[in-house]
Amino acid sequence: MKLLEVKDLTIVFEEGRQRQTVVDHVGFSMDEGEILGVVGESGSGKSMMAHCLMGLYKPHERVAEGSVLFDGQSLLDMPAEARRQVQGNTMSIVFQEPMTSLNPVKKIGPQVEESLYIHRKDVGKQERRELALKALQDVELPNAREVYDSYPHELSGGMRQRVMIASAIVCRPKLLIADEATTALDVTIQAQIIRLLRKLNASTGMSVLFISHNLRVIQEICSRAIVMWQGQIVEEGTVEEIFRRPQEDYTKRLIAAIPTRRKRRGF
Ligand SMILES: Nc1ncnc2c1ncn2[C@@H]1O[C@H](COP(=O)(O)OP(=O)(O)OP(=O)(O)O)[C@@H](O)[C@H]1O
Ligand SMILES: [Mg+2]
Repeated sequence: MKLLEVKDLTIVFEEGRQRQTVVDHVGFSMDEGEILGVVGESGSGKSMMAHCLMGLYKPHERVAEGSVLFDGQSLLDMPAEARRQVQGNTMSIVFQEPMTSLNPVKKIGPQVEESLYIHRKDVGKQERRELALKALQDVELPNAREVYDSYPHELSGGMRQRVMIASAIVCRPKLLIADEATTALDVTIQAQIIRLLRKLNASTGMSVLFISHNLRVIQEICSRAIVMWQGQIVEEGTVEEIFRRPQEDYTKRLIAAIPTRRKRRGF
């Protein structure tokens, strides 16, 4: 069954007399339980598209056209209150920089519990704590209780990103959007987070929209991907097809930009 169907999504940035189309008639769909990759160079509109799904608009941005069907509901036509019950609840997002998303003066536990406060008002204090601890365990943090009572600066970068994932999954979303969620991490930690996302996908059936500018990273996490360029989808298919038969010069350049082992060693 389809979980997400995006059709003709067009987002424009308007300021004064300036008007720029940043997402241009984008259309794709995702099955329930699927991990879909979104790859494209910096500025190709990946984040703008993801933010629109999550209802996170900046000033001057607006949807000019298109529709988003999520879990059978038309997201862009829904009343604001109903939409808020989806965004951050059945659909959630993890960003690149966990330090800027976490509040430095607040303990981890209450921060992980935040979306429970908003979306599960019926859940009491004790249960909230248990659900947060469970989420911290699910992201494989070694000592969930200790992490619960820690401050962000007491954790490593990789641990903080796990905390961000715990916060994003605490309401058990059907879709997790990972926007460059591993980009700021070093390669070993990056691989661990990718393994974790795959595991969560396999064990809970949660779909993942995995956004990265790095085709190699995309290849490690998913079998199907879309390629964005200047706000448009220029290619769609299995990652294997994208590698084997790049249809567009742009995709060829993305592939060529992947460092090979030889290049990395500086030969
Ligand atoms: N505040 C802004 N004012 C003007 N243009 C903007 C603004 N924010 C974004 N844009 C434009 O929107 C386009 C899409 O940006 P977006 O952040 O979605 O790209 P991205 O694919 O996520 O890039 P990255 O890989 O760097 O995260 C870019 O061309 C950018 O120049
Ligand atoms: Mg981005």
